[in-house]
Amino acid sequence: METAYKAIQVADGVYWVGAIDWGIRDFHGYATTRGTTYNAFLVMADRITLIDTVKAPFQDELMSRIASVVDPLDIDYIVSNHSEMDHSGCLPQVIEAIEPEKVFASTMGVKALAQHFHMERGIEAVQDGQTINLGNRNLTFVETRMLHWPDSMVCFLSESNVLFSQDAFGMHLASSQRFADELSREVLEFEAAKYYANIVMPFAPVVLKTLDRLRKLNLPVEVLAPDHGPIYRKDIPWIMGLYSRWANRKPTRKAVVTYDTMWGSTARMAAAIAEGLVAGGAVVKVMPLSASHRSDVATEVLEAGALLVGSPTLNNNLFPTVADVLAYLKGLKPAGLIGAAFGSYGWSGKTAAQIAGLLAEMKVELVGEPLEINYVPDDEALTRCHALGLQVAEKLNQVCKG
Ligand code: FEO
Repeated sequence: METAYKAIQVADGVYWVGAIDWGIRDFHGYATTRGTTYNAFLVMADRITLIDTVKAPFQDELMSRIASVVDPLDIDYIVSNHSEMDHSGCLPQVIEAIEPEKVFASTMGVKALAQHFHMERGIEAVQDGQTINLGNRNLTFVETRMLHWPDSMVCFLSESNVLFSQDAFGMHLASSQRFADELSREVLEFEAAKYYANIVMPFAPVVLKTLDRLRKLNLPVEVLAPDHGPIYRKDIPWIMGLYSRWANRKPTRKAVVTYDTMWGSTARMAAAIAEGLVAGGAVVKVMPLSASHRSDVATEVLEAGALLVGSPTLNNNLFPTVADVLAYLKGLKPAGLIGAAFGSYGWSGKTAAQIAGLLAEMKVELVGEPLEINYVPDDEALTRCHALGLQVAEKLNQVCKG
């Protein structure tokens, strides 16, 4: 017997018909330790409308949840708010199965879907601010380009007062509970921050513009329905406030020290630097890359004021895990950081200088010179490491006061 999945009502005439991916642990390089959901929503208006679909392997779950409310063949419209394949992967198959009268996407979404799926079926472009009539409901589209793809848009359903926000305000969290107010606030804040840091952080100016636009539109949003994780009905100002705080990014006294090590020298340097940071009044998070995933480093950097990176020298180059985390962080564009570079070497190599160059490319303001130690640090070398930590902490204190 096929599993019969049930839809869950999230507002008047609106049902969650998405899928729960309990097992995913790697979402394009992001460690999704709590799994995720791909949210899709069925609007039971006069013109029955499906908002987004799910990742391709979850098509049967989507169709089963829809069928618990209505015959999928009765769906009139499909809206694709975002064409990334976790939300559109089964769109061509769903279109073929139910043959809706119309499929809508943003102008850029129409292009992106064509480039993904090469479908013959036409998709109708909706414009920023356009409203379509569903009979007893209206659906209004607001483009949110680069939050976080060029095609991204959100839509607001009148009468039910639901804002379908695609990836924005989402999180990777698989749970049987569908609403944020049924889950621990601590878990929600951690996963929302992780999602923001790893997906949304490069687009902070767009976040601020979008929050401002939504404020000015003054939509009476009672339910905020993102495409991942729980749905908000009581905590909408809370999650929007977090986005505003993260996008505005004020400096803090927190310093992230991340490194890898071969024979323990860089680890000893990191420990002495961390002690110097603490002595100077910083709050420190030490993240050895043998035990820290790149996406967790990004999460810690989100509300940090300083980033210190260390590497041993391997074949005259950076240690691979250090190169990985720097490439990843560079793409996420954390703003307003100060930092420092350190490392150890044997007979050649200037890895600390290499790290300093990469941090400078990330617009991290460097404190002190890159600190390099030959082979194993002695007491004098560890004193220099401690002093570098202290120097960064003092600079952090100045930045935070200013
Ligand atoms: Fe959840 Fe950008 O896709």
